[in-house]
Amino acid sequence: MTAPILRQLCEIRELSTGWKRAGQTVAVVPTMGALHAGHLSLVQAAKAQCDRVIVWIFVNPKQFNNPEDLKNYPRTEHDDAKKLAPYGVDAIYVPDVDQVYPDGFATTVSVTGLTDVLCGAHRPGHFDGVATVVSKIFLQTGADRAYFGEKDYQQLQIVRRMATDLDIPIDVIACPTVREPSGLAMSSRNLRLSEDAMRQAANLYPILNDMAAELRDGTVFRPLADRARARLNEAGFDEIEYLDLRRADGLAAMDHLDAPARLFIAAWIDGVRLIDNIAV
Ligand code: PAF
Repeated sequence: MTAPILRQLCEIRELSTGWKRAGQTVAVVPTMGALHAGHLSLVQAAKAQCDRVIVWIFVNPKQFNNPEDLKNYPRTEHDDAKKLAPYGVDAIYVPDVDQVYPDGFATTVSVTGLTDVLCGAHRPGHFDGVATVVSKIFLQTGADRAYFGEKDYQQLQIVRRMATDLDIPIDVIACPTVREPSGLAMSSRNLRLSEDAMRQAANLYPILNDMAAELRDGTVFRPLADRARARLNEAGFDEIEYLDLRRADGLAAMDHLDAPARLFIAAWIDGVRLIDNIAV
């Protein structure tokens, strides 16, 4: 059954408050729509662990640092609702812009430190936009649990920090990255890749895994990264924005494996920016 689509803050508040008053646990799955199997895995986890599930769909203008990117971002509400139908979610909240950013809106939530590196260093203002909208998602829905994919690992760390620092009573749950059979991480941006580029982009995951194996064998990061960059260029990637080894907790840079770590990459292929990361 298709879940009701709500557009007003007062509607989602009323529903969520009623559920909580009845002693039910409420989950929110924050998305910008263009749903794929990665999003649906978050919905499945939320359904399995909570009584009620809200899917939030909002293409957040504040997190785009490129107006063209915002204009071209896929908006597929009808298809998204169809994809969600088999999962029995309780509400799809697609807020009107003025429900998130009413006239005169003048507040920015800004997390320091974690936002200085990786995507934060290359997309000025992006994580302020994310932290601002996610704090609104948490406060508007009043959810007990929020589900995020590890594909956006830096975002996950920032959102956790923000919820802790602002005393927002919500558990942030991390779910594993969902991949195509080729290993390519699922992303709404994959839709913009040509067939050739999809094939070439599939080299990313094995290259990261080869690096992880060598790091575990004690190889230091820098020379390994130089070789990986050359392999990525050969595979068809045009630009490697970053390729970094960082502590899983806190994201400090590392040059060899002496603590739980993650390998992070952002790279361009076929005019599309892809990101991925794996645990090491
Ligand atoms: O990961 C996303 O899709 C977005 O950054 C989020 C968390 C929905 C905020 O707009």
